[in-house]
Amino acid sequence: MLVNKNSPVSAEEIAKVNLAHTVDVYGNPVRLEVETLKAFRLLKTAMLENGIMIGLSSGFRSLERQQELIDGLLAQFSEEYVASALAPVGASEHHTGLALDFVVRRDGKWIDGNADVLYTADDIYRQVHPHLAEFGFILRYPLGKEHITEYKYEPWHIRYVGQTLAAHLYETNQTMEEHYIHPAPNGAPLL
Ligand code: DAL
Ligand code: ZN
Repeated sequence: MLVNKNSPVSAEEIAKVNLAHTVDVYGNPVRLEVETLKAFRLLKTAMLENGIMIGLSSGFRSLERQQELIDGLLAQFSEEYVASALAPVGASEHHTGLALDFVVRRDGKWIDGNADVLYTADDIYRQVHPHLAEFGFILRYPLGKEHITEYKYEPWHIRYVGQTLAAHLYETNQTMEEHYIHPAPNGAPLL
């Protein structure tokens, strides 16, 4: 399902999500849609084999939790910045349990904190991105597509869409918005 600022999810749809329980890298409870969690575990194992340790940071969020995050960020940043960083309540993919934020490790420590801290790990995130599609994930808010997704680059936010769609979007360099609104055929040149 496409979830963005123009296509929010309803409380009824959120209530239907089949959520599995797990923990984040600090042991705090996190919920994720069942297939999404399975796929993330496989991705994590594959990355370890490539010498990169990744871990879960954020998964399913209730409407109330998204509001808390927005309020917290609004206390420090402008409305414009907050709109580029956090989805309005009801419009976050995190409400579906199909999206997650992950952190990476460097020198034995999780690189975690605000967006500026996370961006310092962009070199590691970029080594993970080419492996996402194999496990059914896409990088949902890529660099250079901010005008389409309406969010700043988030190397940490991935969305489970299944292997077929993930491979198609990766190979054609499309966001979900481009795919659902102006689909490009397989093999179309990257413009
Ligand atoms: N950070 C993403 C856009 C969200 O809040 O869902
Ligand atoms: Zn996210």
